[in-house]
Amino acid sequence: MRLFFAISFDGPAQDDLHRAAAALARVKTRGHVTAPENLHLTLAFLGEQPEAAGSALCAAATRAAGAPFFLTLGESGRFRQARGDVWWIGTQPCPPLEALVRRLRRELEQAGFSPDPKPFRAHVTLGRGVALPPDAAVSACTARQEVRRFTLFSSAREHGALVYAPVAHIPLPPGAGTFTKPCRFFYK
Ligand code: 2AM
Repeated sequence: MRLFFAISFDGPAQDDLHRAAAALARVKTRGHVTAPENLHLTLAFLGEQPEAAGSALCAAATRAAGAPFFLTLGESGRFRQARGDVWWIGTQPCPPLEALVRRLRRELEQAGFSPDPKPFRAHVTLGRGVALPPDAAVSACTARQEVRRFTLFSSAREHGALVYAPVAHIPLPPGAGTFTKPCRFFYK
């Protein structure tokens, strides 16, 4: 299973991101726009993992979990790439988010995993392989969301479509609330 930890969005932040992705879809001349249900902010990417790793991953993530915090979406930006750019929405500076990512990556490494070592740049990918007309712009998002959990997702291609499925929700603060059914599958 290809696994990653990410924050997903609801309420006004989700609406804001849906609007931004739809606007990108309208103006792009090339590329793939992220399906609305797939919009997320990656905290740590693990790549291919055996199903049995789920329990250790959840335990490490729970050790990394801290207090809930507020996250405000921000400007659009792009990672320039030869075959079309990755366009994204960033966030306002968010020290609790950066601290969570540091703790998560450290706990994962201490548990023997190798999360992708690229420096963290908080972003929600709107589209990949994208080309825009020269005068087009992707507008910013402004909504704020309280982050009360993050999620271990699996990523798979199903009939050509990329499907991100929640495997476990990790609550903030740790131990708060109840785990969802998929989480109980892994995390006892
Ligand atoms: P992204 O965060 O720029 O969108 C699932 O593939 C998610 O993990 C995507 O959100 C993807 O990119 C992110 N990711 C981070 N590092 C990755 C890597 N080395 N390979 C694939 N996806 C990665």
